Amino acid sequence: MVGIVLLVLAAFLILIAAGVTRLGRSIYRSAKRLALDAAVPRATIANPEGIDRVHARAARAGRRVNAAGRHALLAFGVALMVLPWVGIVALAGLVLSLFDSFSHDSFSKGRVLRVRNRAQLPEVASGRTWHHDAELVFDAPPPAAERAVVGELWLLSARMEHASIAAFSQLSIHLLALGAPARLVAETQRAAMDEVVHARACFSLASALLGEPKTAGPIAALATADAAAGGAPDLVRLALGSLVDGCLAEGLAADVAAAGAAAAADSTLRKTLAMIAKDEARHAELGWSVLAWCIAEGGEPVRARVAERTARLERELTPRLPDLAGTDVAVLRRYGVIDQDALGGLAAARIAATQVRARALLADDVRLAA
Ligand SMILES: [Fe+2]
Ligand SMILES: [Fe+2]
Repeated sequence: MVGIVLLVLAAFLILIAAGVTRLGRSIYRSAKRLALDAAVPRATIANPEGIDRVHARAARAGRRVNAAGRHALLAFGVALMVLPWVGIVALAGLVLSLFDSFSHDSFSKGRVLRVRNRAQLPEVASGRTWHHDAELVFDAPPPAAERAVVGELWLLSARMEHASIAAFSQLSIHLLALGAPARLVAETQRAAMDEVVHARACFSLASALLGEPKTAGPIAALATADAAAGGAPDLVRLALGSLVDGCLAEGLAADVAAAGAAAAADSTLRKTLAMIAKDEARHAELGWSVLAWCIAEGGEPVRARVAERTARLERELTPRLPDLAGTDVAVLRRYGVIDQDALGGLAAARIAATQVRARALLADDVRLAA
């Protein structure tokens, strides 16, 4: 729907730009003609049928202007011809960059599942199909007043962990399609299995906190063959995805889980978050391995795109927690959830660290190639 509205808007803008360009061209041509008229020297010999008649005609038409006026008209005509198109290109760039930013506006808990550049999550269903087999026990029963809010947050985490399974499955397909070595494919499959464990742990915790069994439903956006495959594989796309969704997003997921583990009051929450932090850090390392392989395989075209994306990595938006107005930060921390300010600090530090390491990787690659 948004795509159709944008297409109609783009067609409308192009029609307006074409009209303004026509007007500019006609002003420019008129100004050129005025220049020719004024360049005819005044006749000194009376010749009613010759040059004097030309001047008489120009004077009758009222088109005689001075040089500054002609130049201003010429410039105005050229500006009308060029500026609408410059405006359209600038507007298109702005819209694209906004789309780019919006696509990252989600609370990161690991590798992001994208379909047509939008982050996707499973629907929430009722049941225990994604629960741990073992009974979950808290050190002490959490107070009812706190359980609803933090339960919803853990449910959101569970859906993100679940979506990461599909993200790693797509990564496996792309690696196989591009002829990647066994160690990368094996690590990717292992990462997908880690996410199964994370998702089950998080759905179990969320359900225990909410007091009702919540589980994963379908991921509707994956229902077509093209979406399920994650688009056409290519080295540049794989490299950029590894940089943003692997090195950065999974690195940040490890930081967030480690901070949550340090803050959580309950031993079950602490153990779950510590396990997730350790795995996510390994997933981030897998991201770096895939990135290095893409650069080695693809050479300069991949290297140049990675360098360009690294330079604007700070434009990635800090992941946003759901609106928790009125919720005490100390309560969130007891349940292993860090607040928005702390999340912003971790994201900024992780972006900076990712840029440093990516630049070192690119420099090493150049030295090896030389
Ligand atoms: Fe992960
Ligand atoms: Fe995970």
